[in-house]
Amino acid sequence: MAVAVAHPNIALVKYWGKADSERNLPAAESLSLTLGAMFTQAQVELSGGSTDALVINGVSRSDKELLRVSRFLDLIGGSNRARARVTSTTNFPMSAGLASSAAAFAALALAGSAAYGSKLDRRELSILARRGSGSAARSMLGGFVRVRIESVDGYVEAFAEQVESKLELHAAIAIVKGGEKELGSTDGMEHTRQTSPYHSQWLSTVTKDMKAAIVALGSGDFEALADVTEGNALAMHADAMAARPGILYFEPETLELVRALRALRKSGVLVTFTIDAGPNVVALAPARELPKVTEALAAILGSDRVLTSPPGEGAKLVES
Ligand code: PMV
Repeated sequence: MAVAVAHPNIALVKYWGKADSERNLPAAESLSLTLGAMFTQAQVELSGGSTDALVINGVSRSDKELLRVSRFLDLIGGSNRARARVTSTTNFPMSAGLASSAAAFAALALAGSAAYGSKLDRRELSILARRGSGSAARSMLGGFVRVRIESVDGYVEAFAEQVESKLELHAAIAIVKGGEKELGSTDGMEHTRQTSPYHSQWLSTVTKDMKAAIVALGSGDFEALADVTEGNALAMHADAMAARPGILYFEPETLELVRALRALRKSGVLVTFTIDAGPNVVALAPARELPKVTEALAAILGSDRVLTSPPGEGAKLVES
């Protein structure tokens, strides 16, 4: 039996668009911060059974989630592998809208490869995790993490790499709406790729934003990082909104929160924000600014709908 723990992450430069659906290869690089307060623990136990089993937060699953996990385990152990019982537990509400698949597949990549005796280094583990969920590659590592795309002899690969930073940022997550996303990220990004007239522009924006964000982190320039983070999130949503029919993830409270955070930043507080494929808003700020940030978010949503997190470490094997 193998057990691993991984944290979710929030992207400052978003992954939105695939180059190859089969290998789940992103069309552009991305950059995120691993969130230490939340985690998923995945346990993989090889069973003598004829089918895999999946239990998520105490609930047995026999739907598309199980199929997704079985296909993922096939990547590790091959299709003739011993069947497994996978138990996944999160310490954060799925409703937080934090790509829970990132922490889940990072933990599963680590626990699964240990259970099947597959010896992979961190880079290979991040590539494996990416096959489960694009953002999961980034949860293999801690702090600020980029997905780097590299082409060797015409073969393109995308893997996670840690980014040096002079800034230490904490997250405050404002939960506008919980529950299942109306449109999941895979379907959302594919629909955008196929129909948005802005999509190629979005991809070139990401290339520029990656460079600017990495320079800003390296030099500790919060204002530059804040401009990129906010601009990149809004550009991703503009790309999605321009799809036909347009994808609208925002709710009225999303805009209210964004306006409050912009006003706070204008008043001198170091804070920026980002929004994933959903209505929730994630503020990023140095620890000393966190009380003011959470106060502003809680004034709109109530304090029970605001979570905070320090930066987190990479995925860890806790038992094998
Ligand atoms: O990892 P996926 O396939 O759930 O895609 C993640 C997409 C976003 O969360 C919207 C952006 C990102 O880079 O995390």
